[in-house]
Amino acid sequence: MEENIVWHQQNVNKDDRITLLSQKPCILWFTGLSGSGKSTIANAVEKQLFNRGIKTYLLDGDNIRHGLNKDLGFSETDRVENIRRIGEVSKLFVDAGLITLTAFISPFKSDRQIARSLVGYDEFIEVFINTPLEICEKRDPKGLYKKARDGAIKNFTGIDSPYEAPLEPQISINTDALTINESVDKIINYLIKYGYIQGNENDYAI
Ligand code: ADX
Repeated sequence: MEENIVWHQQNVNKDDRITLLSQKPCILWFTGLSGSGKSTIANAVEKQLFNRGIKTYLLDGDNIRHGLNKDLGFSETDRVENIRRIGEVSKLFVDAGLITLTAFISPFKSDRQIARSLVGYDEFIEVFINTPLEICEKRDPKGLYKKARDGAIKNFTGIDSPYEAPLEPQISINTDALTINESVDKIINYLIKYGYIQGNENDYAI
């Protein structure tokens, strides 16, 4: 760290913002292969939260890579930096009092662990979108798996770059067994059950 930079205490702090917004901020950290459904489910969850009047923000890999992280590619070093920045940005959004949703492959366990360590333990909810590679590859919504198999894309997660699945995610979504709506309900149910949002968890019993 730069030794001549000193942290400046701000007049309005996280607790003040939480009180103003009357909500409990956290990060819903979606992880899973490309094409697993992270963005689709994260978008649908955000819509549900929005409809309940909850202040949210969604950070999505494909979009962030058009702006903040457009200087980064898919080498191991760049992916580590990608997730480091997203962890830091998410921490700021949590500090702002928002329920923050992130949808990145985030293939490395150690990087997700670092992101978790930036916020309070109960402020990081890991959501594993557990869709097998065969299904993601069959869907291939952007035609990228085909390109990767043909050797036109290098370091493609699941093909020639590893994906380290979470061992103990707070929420695991098996997209084989659940529809998108059921997946959303499972996540909303978790948020109600653990007091992040108000509601009747039985409405969302999955
Ligand atoms: S991460 O691995 O660094 O977390 P991130 O979620 O930001 O990845 O971006 C993944 C998206 O970039 C994929 O959904 C896909 O559309 C696109 N992409 C392009 N090249 C690759 C690659 N080599 N591996 C994985 N995804 C890629």
